Amino acid sequence: MQIRAITPDDHAVLCALWRRTPGIQLRSDDEYAPFCRYLARNPGLSLLVEAEGVPVACLLVGHDGRRGYLQHLVVDVPWRGRGLARALVDEALRRLAEQGVVKSHVFVLDDAPEALAFWQAQSRWGLRSDIRVFSTREAQA
Ligand SMILES: CC(C)(COP(=O)(O)OP(=O)(O)OC[C@H]1O[C@@H](n2cnc3c(N)ncnc32)[C@H](O)[C@@H]1OP(=O)(O)O)[C@@H](O)C(=O)NCCC(=O)NCCS
Repeated sequence: MQIRAITPDDHAVLCALWRRTPGIQLRSDDEYAPFCRYLARNPGLSLLVEAEGVPVACLLVGHDGRRGYLQHLVVDVPWRGRGLARALVDEALRRLAEQGVVKSHVFVLDDAPEALAFWQAQSRWGLRSDIRVFSTREAQA
């Protein structure tokens, strides 16, 4: 098993993984062009785990120069419970720190109990009770 950076060529197989994973919501941002734009803007940060050439886990990672943001952490069902998610998160934080980004956030939906349980079990991560997230979306240019 090997961790490597995600490339544009991985889009189709990762979309299939996300689609078959309950709790992961696909949006227009996950289509090919925005996916490639995101990878180009955050080179070498988004990661996957490959087993015998097949991606079985992934994590999208970006930053704004100040904070890191983690999204779409998924481990395919047969590969869960082997430390793959932890390995991806640790490697992403290491790569972010190399770029001077030492604080990161992950947004987890209230109705994603599995994701909440995972993040609550991570001792390096603290649940914030002092923040509410406000979001907006512009019409597409
Ligand atoms: C959440 C998810 C990514 C965990 O992947 P995983 O590879 O099985 O997790 P790991 O094996 O790396 O687990 C690391 C630690 O987290 C904890 N953990 C993992 N899954 C957990 C769960 N469902 N509930 C509670 N704790 C959990 C364990 O304590 C584990 O530590 P241990 O090895 O000492 O037991 C995987 O279950 C998944 O893809 N779920 C569906 C998608 C999802 O919810 N993604 C999160 C989006 S924010």
